[in-house]
This record gives sequence, C-alpha cells and structure tokens, in this order.
Amino acid sequence: MRRLLKAQALIFFGPPGAGKGTQAQAVSVAFGIPHISTGEMLREAVRLGTPLGLAAKERMESGELVSDEIVSGIAAERLARPDCQTGFILDGFPRTIGQADFLERLLREQGRGAPLVIYIHVESWVLLKRLSGRRTCPICGRIYNMYFDPPKVDEVCDIDGAALVTRADDKEVAIRQRLDAYEVLTRPLLDYYRVRHQLWEVDGDRAPAEVARDVIELVSRELATSA
Ligand code: AP5
Repeated sequence: MRRLLKAQALIFFGPPGAGKGTQAQAVSVAFGIPHISTGEMLREAVRLGTPLGLAAKERMESGELVSDEIVSGIAAERLARPDCQTGFILDGFPRTIGQADFLERLLREQGRGAPLVIYIHVESWVLLKRLSGRRTCPICGRIYNMYFDPPKVDEVCDIDGAALVTRADDKEVAIRQRLDAYEVLTRPLLDYYRVRHQLWEVDGDRAPAEVARDVIELVSRELATSA
C-alpha cells in the first residue's frame, strides 16, 4: 500500500468536530503515512511563542481562520519534508478556495496525483457536544471525549497518565464562531472537489472504529483502482 500512496494526498474534510483528527490518527497508523494537521502545527507554534504563534493566537482562540498566506506557507514547508514522499494525510487544510487553489498548484509542481478528499459528514447538532467534551493528551496527542469516549480515569490519559487538556477554542463562543467560519468559508470546497470528482463521503456519526474501517476500505479501494 505504501507504493500506491507514493504520489497521493489524502484530505480529511469536514466541520469542526466531525472527527478529522480522530480518523487521521487511525488511518495514519494503518497506512504508515504522516498525519499533518495545520491546527496542531499552529497550536504548537502558539505553545512555543514563535512569531507564527503570536500572529495566529488571537484568531485561533476566537475561532476565526488564520490567513491563507500563513497557513499555505506552513503547509508547503511541511509537505516538502522527506516523510511525505510516500503520501500523507491533510487534516484541516485546505479550508478556503484560495488554499485549495494553492494546494492544487503545489501538488502539480511536486508531480503528485489529484488528492483523494474524504468528507466526514456529521449533523451540526452533534458537533457542539463533541467539541465541548473533547480532551487531548498533551504528551501523546490521543483525543478523548468526556461524553462519547472518556478515559478510564477522569481527565487522565490511559496511555501515559498525563492530565488531559481542553483546547482554548473549545469554549462555546469560539465553537460557534468556528462553525460559522466553516459554513461561510470552508463548506464551498465541497462543490470545488465534487466537480473535480475527487470527493468521497462517509457517515461520521457512528463509533470511531466503524468510521475508520469504512475510511480505510474506501482509501484502499480508490488507490487500487487508480494505480
Ligand atoms: P483545527 O485544529 O483544524 O480544528 P477544527 O477544524 O475546528 O477541527 P477539530 O480539530 O475541532 O475537529 P476534528 O474534526 O479534528 O474532530 P476530532 O477528531 O478532534 O483548527 C483549529 C484552528 O486553527 C482553526 O479554527 C483556525 O483558527 C486555525 N486553522 C487550522 N487550519 C487552518 C487553515 N487551513 N486555514 C486557516 N486557519 C486554520 O473530534 C472531536 C471530538 O469528537 C473529540 O472529542 C473526539 O473524541 C470526538 N469524536 C470523534 N469522532 C467521534 C465519533 N465517531 N463518535 C463520537 N465522538 C467522536
């Protein structure tokens, strides 16, 4: 499968809370390819207090998108690294038409095939609960949910015992702003990829393992037919 993924970009697409990060973690392990989350890269820059982090912090915490210029720059830099040679998963990028045009040009320049875009569909009323219940391990990055997928010990990671953290943008006001930004700026990408025949939809409102099984099957099938 690594050979088939050589030129391929997988894009995990969907609203905040659809499960892009959760699914990307599972599929990254299944195919041995990197999971690239622009949100995670930006949060790391905020944690480290780099110039990029300082520029992005306020917009992220209020739930607004960071500028196309900043995000496209960090994505391009990350995709140039050697571990992307055998394929990669993009989680949270692109999320505007400008970013999608940028990515299309970049993939062409790198000699890669068209991306496979997986739209994880979840009804909006479920998203609010998922986001407000999310906790993340600061050490291993494992994502939990206090309502749907709690750790064995309250607020503690099952894997390394670290105290779980709540994201700064998982407060109700910021969540609503993120959902609005998705509707206005990101949802139009569904048509962008649909007309290019690059979009596949999965039902994300099922247990994470069931969704992962379908995503892995879908990716395997599509890569096999396009080989
Ligand atoms: P980013 O980190 O990308 O956040 P997001 O898109 O808002 O998505 P989330 O991480 O909130 O949700 P997810 O779909 O990954 O769901 P998850 O798997 O965690 O971006 C954050 C910010 O950075 C943006 O607001 C913006 O400011 C900036 N940014 C990033 N990229 C940018 C870009 N390209 N352009 C401009 N700005 C950018 O799951 C959520 C919860 O649900 C978890 O608790 C999980 O356990 C639970 N869950 C998952 N799946 C299931 C399931 N099947 N059943 C039950 N519970 C589930």
